[in-house]
Amino acid sequence: MKIAFFDAKTYDVPSFKKYGEEKGIEFKFYETKLTEDTAALARGCDGVCVFVNDEVSAPVIDRLREEGCRLIALRCAGYNNIDFKHLGDSMPVFHVPAYSPYSVAEHAMAMLLTSIRRIHKAYIRTRDFNFSLNGMTGFDLHSKTVGVVGTGKIGRCFIDICRGFGMKILAYDKYPQDIEGVTYVDTDTLFRESDIISLHCPLTPETYHMIDDSAIEKMKQRAIIINTSRGALIDAAALLSAIKERRIGGACLDVYEEESDFFFEDYSNHIVSDDILARLISMPNVIVTSHQAFLTEEALDAIAETTISNIYGYLTEGTIQNKVKI
Ligand code: NAI
Repeated sequence: MKIAFFDAKTYDVPSFKKYGEEKGIEFKFYETKLTEDTAALARGCDGVCVFVNDEVSAPVIDRLREEGCRLIALRCAGYNNIDFKHLGDSMPVFHVPAYSPYSVAEHAMAMLLTSIRRIHKAYIRTRDFNFSLNGMTGFDLHSKTVGVVGTGKIGRCFIDICRGFGMKILAYDKYPQDIEGVTYVDTDTLFRESDIISLHCPLTPETYHMIDDSAIEKMKQRAIIINTSRGALIDAAALLSAIKERRIGGACLDVYEEESDFFFEDYSNHIVSDDILARLISMPNVIVTSHQAFLTEEALDAIAETTISNIYGYLTEGTIQNKVKI
C-alpha cells in the first residue's frame, strides 16, 4: 500500500512512519502542497494524504483518478478544501473527526489570555529589562460573557474551560444541544451581548464571512474575537477596519482566509505581499498564530493513528470508517 503524502512537515513524518510501518503502508512524503501542478506525484499510489491547505479541486481530482488513486485521506477534521460536487462517489474522502479537541480549545484560551493580559507585550519588554507596567492593564475573565459559535467537540471543550474561569456562556449552533449552564441564543444576541466571541463551527457557504461589517457593528466596543476554526469565517478586511476604527477590543487568529499563501512557511526574509495580514499582525491587540492550535504531541499521535486506520481499513477490507458525510 502506497500513499502520496503532501505538505509534509518534520513534525508529521515520525508518527506517520511509525504507524505506517506497523500496518505495511509506505508513505511517499512530499513537502509540496497538492495542486494541479503536483498531483502527478501521486502516480502509482493507492491514494493521497492531505492537509488543510492542499487543493483538492476539480482538475486535481481528475488527475488523481488518472494516476490510479482510490482514496483521499485528510489528516485533519475540516474538509472545506475538497470539491465534493466534482468528486461525486468516485473516491471516498476520509478525515479525522476528533483527535484532541482539547488541543484547539486550550490554544483558543491561551490566545485569549495572552491578548487580554498583554503577555505578548510583557515577554518582549522584560527580555529588554523594561519592567514598566504602562499599557499593561488587562481585564478579568470572571463574570464576563463568552459567546461560542459552534458547540461541537472543540466548542464544548472551550465552554468547559470558560466555566472554570467563572464566565457566563452564550452559544449559537445550527443544531443546539442540551448543555448545562449554556444559553443558546441567535447570532444577533450573541454578537450584542458577548465580551468574547469564539468561533468553533465549520466553514460552509452558510458560515462564510459570518463575521462581517454588519456582525461587527452589533458587537460591544471591547469585544474580543477568537478564530481557531477556519479563516474565511471572518471577512478580514472588515475586521481590520474595525480594529483601526477601535470598534472592537481585539482579535486572536489562528487561521486566516488567505493563509494557504503563507502559513506553515518561513517568510521572515521576504516582503509579505498581503497588506491585510501584515497590517493585522502589526496591531497591538491582534495575535496571529500559524494554524497551530492542533499541534500537540497527543493530537499528532491520534491524527496519524486514525488516518492510517482509515486508509488500512479501506485498502485491505473495504471498510468505510470516518468517511466525510456532506
Ligand atoms: P464538530 O463537528 O464537532 O462541531 C462543529 C459544530 O458546528 C457542530 O455542533 C455543528 O452543529 C455546528 N455547526 C454546523 N454548521 C453550523 C452553522 N451554520 N452555524 C453554527 N454552527 C454550526 O467540529 P469540531 O471538532 O468541534 O471542530 C470545529 C472546527 O474547528 C472544524 O470545522 C475545523 O474547521 C476547526 N479546527 C481547527 C483546528 C486548528 O488547528 N485551528 C484543528 C481542528 C479543527
